[in-house]
Amino acid sequence: MIAPGRGAALAGAAAALLLAGCGQKPPAGPPSPGQRLYAANCLACHQPGGEGVPGVQPPLAGTPVPTGDPQVLLRWVMFGERPAALPRGRYSGMMPQFGYLSDEDLAVLLSYVRSSFGNHAAPVTPAMVAAARSAHRGG
Ligand code: HEC
Repeated sequence: MIAPGRGAALAGAAAALLLAGCGQKPPAGPPSPGQRLYAANCLACHQPGGEGVPGVQPPLAGTPVPTGDPQVLLRWVMFGERPAALPRGRYSGMMPQFGYLSDEDLAVLLSYVRSSFGNHAAPVTPAMVAAARSAHRGG
């Protein structure tokens, strides 16, 4: 057990560390459309910095699918078609499907993921999303 006084001191130190942000500055200015879409759809599981939750939800940086082939990424995010690089059972969580989002929103959102958290992959275009959609429909 930690004595109450010492607990408060530790809490204060933790708050100071949080404020210092461990070197991660909050983004300046209003959130971009990509950031807003990420916050609304992905952040609860994949976390603000894309760091995920160990064993439950994967990080979106340093993992293969986010920065890999856009069609593989799109098929996973839109329809839950499992990529070879994401073997079943590695994470205990379940990911919902996002095929109901518009081509434009998915393009903006996934381009954000591919260029954030230290990622440097080429953007996803609405045409790529449309191609993934029609491939899924078998057309
Ligand atoms: C309810 C929690 C949840 C939400 C919301 C969620 N995900 Fe996931 N995501 C997961 C889990 C769990 C996995 C691993 C699933 C598995 O292995 O079966 C995963 C895996 C992934 C992967 C594969 C990462 C790798 O290891 O290569 C990507 C990419 C991804 N998610 C992107 C997204 C995007 C983009 C969004 C928002 C549109 C999103 N996720 C929303 C839980 C979530």
